[in-house]
Amino acid sequence: MFKFVVLILFVSALGQDIFPPSPLRLLEVINSGRCLYPAPRPLNGYFVYRSNANDISVDIGIYKCNTCYSLLGSDHNACWQRRWIFPAPTCRRKDPCATSVAGPCMSNAECVSYGSGIYTCICRNGYSGNGKRSYYKNACFTYRGIKGIDGCLKDCDTTVLGNPSLLDSYPHDVKVEWTCKAGLQGSGTVRCSNGRWVGPLPNCLSLCAHPTRLDVDNADYWPKKENYVETDHVTWRCDIGYYGPETQSVCNSNGSWTGHVPICLRN
Ligand SMILES: *[C@@H]1O[C@H](CO)[C@@H](O)[C@H](O)[C@H]1NC(C)=O
Repeated sequence: MFKFVVLILFVSALGQDIFPPSPLRLLEVINSGRCLYPAPRPLNGYFVYRSNANDISVDIGIYKCNTCYSLLGSDHNACWQRRWIFPAPTCRRKDPCATSVAGPCMSNAECVSYGSGIYTCICRNGYSGNGKRSYYKNACFTYRGIKGIDGCLKDCDTTVLGNPSLLDSYPHDVKVEWTCKAGLQGSGTVRCSNGRWVGPLPNCLSLCAHPTRLDVDNADYWPKKENYVETDHVTWRCDIGYYGPETQSVCNSNGSWTGHVPICLRN
């Protein structure tokens, strides 16, 4: 009577086992010293018995974790004198940020994990998102974050633009237009490209009064331009019917001309 009750208990305990619980088999089990219960199982994982038909004195197997989980603890177990040697291992959700320093984030970004495989990438100081990826998902991991934060490019320093009212830096792809103050010539547009300004940096040149205003008699100058800025030269030549040596004037950074103007005498 007592033994019958025990057998019922074995049937339910071995129900998930790979061994078919035939009454004969159960008797073998009782006599062999096999474990009463199946191997302890981890949450989000399972135990794979190694069937060994020639040796029923011991149950052996290995632990596996479900996809997206990694195993902590003993990856195997064995029944010894009716007891499982090891407790069940832990199957821990894989951390998307643990794969490397930046995790699945691109360079110059830091990975922040929210658990359950959800992570985001944050650009390091001095870097901004390149606007490429806003959402990413694979079997285990899901990216949630600001649009384009996944790839980070270097910001550009604005001090070289020389305007104290600007921000310290601008992110990649931002364009800045510059113009010179009145009395100075120059304008342009620069674009931030991964930490470097592309295009003409601010460079303002002094304008000199037009050479006609130098009131030189009986001579003309060359070349003719709309505006004359610092370092521009003009060459003076006497008009037809006059003679005198060629001379040069240069436009200075203070906006004045220096050099020689010709003295032209009638032939
Ligand atoms: C302008 O600069 C030139 C060259 O440096 C100098 O000779 C001239 O005296 C300066 N003129 C004025 C008004 O400062």
